[in-house]
Amino acid sequence: MRLFDSHTHLFARDFQPDLEDVLQRAREAEVEKMVVVGDNFRHSAEAVAMAKAKPKLFAAVGVHPHDAKTVQDGDCSFLLGLLGPKVVAWGEVGLDYYRDLSPRSVQQEVFRIQIALARQAKLPLIVHERAAQPHLTQILLEERAGEIGGVLHCFSGDWPQASALLDLGFNISFAGNVTYPSARPIQEAAMKIPTDRILVETDCPYLRPEPERKGRNEPAFVRSVLRFLADLRQIDVEELAIATWVNAHHLFKIKA
Ligand code: NI
Repeated sequence: MRLFDSHTHLFARDFQPDLEDVLQRAREAEVEKMVVVGDNFRHSAEAVAMAKAKPKLFAAVGVHPHDAKTVQDGDCSFLLGLLGPKVVAWGEVGLDYYRDLSPRSVQQEVFRIQIALARQAKLPLIVHERAAQPHLTQILLEERAGEIGGVLHCFSGDWPQASALLDLGFNISFAGNVTYPSARPIQEAAMKIPTDRILVETDCPYLRPEPERKGRNEPAFVRSVLRFLADLRQIDVEELAIATWVNAHHLFKIKA
């Protein structure tokens, strides 16, 4: 079995003391490839540096809606300077109306600007969304994000929301929160996503799956997410592992 963790933040301070051990445990858990996803300028540069140093790591560059307020005059062109062979996506970008850590108008502006840059760079989007539907889908449509496609990461909506994103050509990625008992609507959506449009991720160091839930998450635990989803969908774990592996390679245009 070979697993692909489509969303990690391995540059996080939490991983500094023992990153090599974390990567070793990932290997032992058959997690062969990972995308390190930036959320601001500095972390995007760190993600790219990590991907350059390690063959099995890939990078995404982008400014998270939480950090949208740190962008001066909407100028995200710094990120264009980071692009290269190991940069496989633009993200994470999107809207977060739940925590509202940046003013909504700023989130929207920085989101739209980055969709345009991703289209220019011909990179798929890694999209973050919380409490911002249907506005998010509307912006994706207006900015013609369907032309580059992408993935809605750490899906936390319901089936109608998933369905709207699938119609746009997007993939849906599930993280540890799908395993939480309170996640019924997410689980119902997870049962219906076509097998060729589903990805798995940890979003580590956040969102450690059940049963531990508390404490630092790490790529090795993507296995728990996969197992849970396979159970839910009543398919073989191996079969879902292959599907998510193939889907991730296809989306990020990585050779298997
Ligand atoms: Ni994330």
